[in-house]
Amino acid sequence: MANWRKFILWFAQEHVDFRVQEFDSLVKMFGLQVRRLTEHTMKPFWLVEFRDTDTALQYASRSISLRAMFELYAHSNKLPEFHQRLRNHVTENWGTLAEYFRLESSFKIVVETYNKHFSQKEKVEKIESMDYLPIEGPVNLKNPQVEWWYIEFWGLNPTAVPPEPEEIMFGRLVANGQRHLIKELSLKQRKFIGNTSMDAQLSLLMANQAMVRDGDLVFDPFVGTGSLLVSAAKWGGYVLGADIDYMMVHARCRPSRITQKVREKDESIRANLKQYGCADRYMDVVVADFSNPVWDSRISFDSIITDLPLVI
Ligand SMILES: C[S@@+](CC[C@H](N)C(=O)[O-])C[C@H]1O[C@@H](n2cnc3c(N)ncnc32)[C@H](O)[C@@H]1O
Repeated sequence: MANWRKFILWFAQEHVDFRVQEFDSLVKMFGLQVRRLTEHTMKPFWLVEFRDTDTALQYASRSISLRAMFELYAHSNKLPEFHQRLRNHVTENWGTLAEYFRLESSFKIVVETYNKHFSQKEKVEKIESMDYLPIEGPVNLKNPQVEWWYIEFWGLNPTAVPPEPEEIMFGRLVANGQRHLIKELSLKQRKFIGNTSMDAQLSLLMANQAMVRDGDLVFDPFVGTGSLLVSAAKWGGYVLGADIDYMMVHARCRPSRITQKVREKDESIRANLKQYGCADRYMDVVVADFSNPVWDSRISFDSIITDLPLVI
């Protein structure tokens, strides 16, 4: 049974152009039922309504653009109205919210302000302005069981900050996005990279747009150093690549790290997948010219994902 719930999505302000596409791709891939309540998609905070919490969690389990997701308690562009709405929400939904306010639930309230800096003292005052919340549990700043977030959005333009926040929101942290993977797959620590290697964030976003799912067969016809194979494999795809450059495919091209004079013997795309625990997803990479397809017509890929050269 549907149990529609409103959420705040907090996005990183990086690769903003990919945000809507990533969101739409994940919604399509998982077949999620969602209503977007935000019109201005460049804003880092969106309000959305998911069919239920599990649906929301499915989205967060794959999003790279998403920093964190909060169950929405109150939203307004006027402070008095915000406080009134927050009080009402807690009273009206006490049946489901009581467990988060109980004595046994340690908590923390985080104040996040976008496009305007506030001192620690001012942040504490904002928290104190919500002293009507019926919180019983102890504060635990390191490892709380419940995290509530008070968020103020002061516009996107740092040179024209509005006199009042454009949006004031409050919600309970429900999930983080998958941005930890950006660090985990960083090129800085990757075994085999070259001049063409695509950064981890962009590669992960592209694999999300390609709707790569566990068990899919994914092909990159201009594979280079295989950055897109890494992200596709991380999402569970079985990956294949091709490139016209023999030296690239065999990881014999010139090293691109300033500190490295010669390539290690064991550098390869396969070694990269092994490094990230995806060795079982590696099918192969071959030397082939895209304009001369080598594939049997019976082969069918679930997705073809690539980063084109400037000149083919
Ligand atoms: C932009 S790079 C791909 C970078 C790759 N995503 C990576 O992570 O390194 C484009 C690649 O296309 C290859 N290429 C150029 N012309 C090709 C062709 N006709 N067929 C196959 N590969 C080709 C180049 O050798 C180069 O490695």
